[in-house]
Amino acid sequence: MSGETVKKLTVYTLAEDYTGYDSLFWASFGISFLLRIESGGGKKTLLFDTASDPEPILHNIRLLELSLEDIDAIVLSHRHFDHTGGLAGVLREIHRMDIPIIVHPRIFDVTVNDVPYLEPHRSRLFLNEGLSGENRKDNITSLGGRWFCVKDPFPILPGVMTTGEIEDEEKVSYERDPHLNLFDIKDGGLIKASAVDDISLCINTSGGLVVITGCSHAGIVSITKKAIRLTGTDTVRAIIGGFHLINANDELIDRTVKDLEEMRIERIFSGHCTGSNAEYRLRQVFGERFERLHSGKTIEF
Ligand SMILES: [Fe+2]
Ligand SMILES: [Fe+2]
Repeated sequence: MSGETVKKLTVYTLAEDYTGYDSLFWASFGISFLLRIESGGGKKTLLFDTASDPEPILHNIRLLELSLEDIDAIVLSHRHFDHTGGLAGVLREIHRMDIPIIVHPRIFDVTVNDVPYLEPHRSRLFLNEGLSGENRKDNITSLGGRWFCVKDPFPILPGVMTTGEIEDEEKVSYERDPHLNLFDIKDGGLIKASAVDDISLCINTSGGLVVITGCSHAGIVSITKKAIRLTGTDTVRAIIGGFHLINANDELIDRTVKDLEEMRIERIFSGHCTGSNAEYRLRQVFGERFERLHSGKTIEF
């Protein structure tokens, strides 16, 4: 998509783990962004992830005076329930057939928690993926979703594409282990979860690149480097999303922040699974160019 740019991008945080201070917005474990994009093809609206549940999204979108009915396509960053849990509820509100849902083909694989005992308060015992229950593949199809299962980078609009799968060879060495206490069921065995289905969005604005991530299980540095390669622009205006450094040690946090600094990222908007240690370090290094995400936060480019 080299050369194609979007004229205007507005990112609305429909749901995030934090409400913001003194706020009427609701929090929800996970992430959901609504993206208003003005490009050569006119004005389009994308939904990126659907957090854990639809209710906070429906409440917050009303406060933002926006509508889910305008959504042209949905992108799901990966299978975890805090990014896919609200999908069926959102589709019921859109109330239209043939809504493209862009995902990695391995999003339907089964991931389990390593919970060795019963926890009655957990409704999702064992299963960590969100495309089960009312969000299962066939039910989503009957609610109007049309699955686009694509492993490669996928162009959505002029200037907008997914990263596709980020393969191990494309990653910086220290991001090859996604540090998840989860297991995938494969060929009858349990293997350490690889989060192979993790994809992000690259949006090429006239002033540079904006990268939108879910949990960044593929690694925020590797994701950003791939977005730069795909778009052919090395001016990164912003990276926005969860960076999954919540369980990372100081060494991994320092290497990540140093590499983001070397890439001269202009602004960072992060929260969710980034973790307070990494947020503290990002704030130290990026100062006011780092901002904590929260439900209702609106970012304009
Ligand atoms: Fe997450
Ligand atoms: Fe995740």
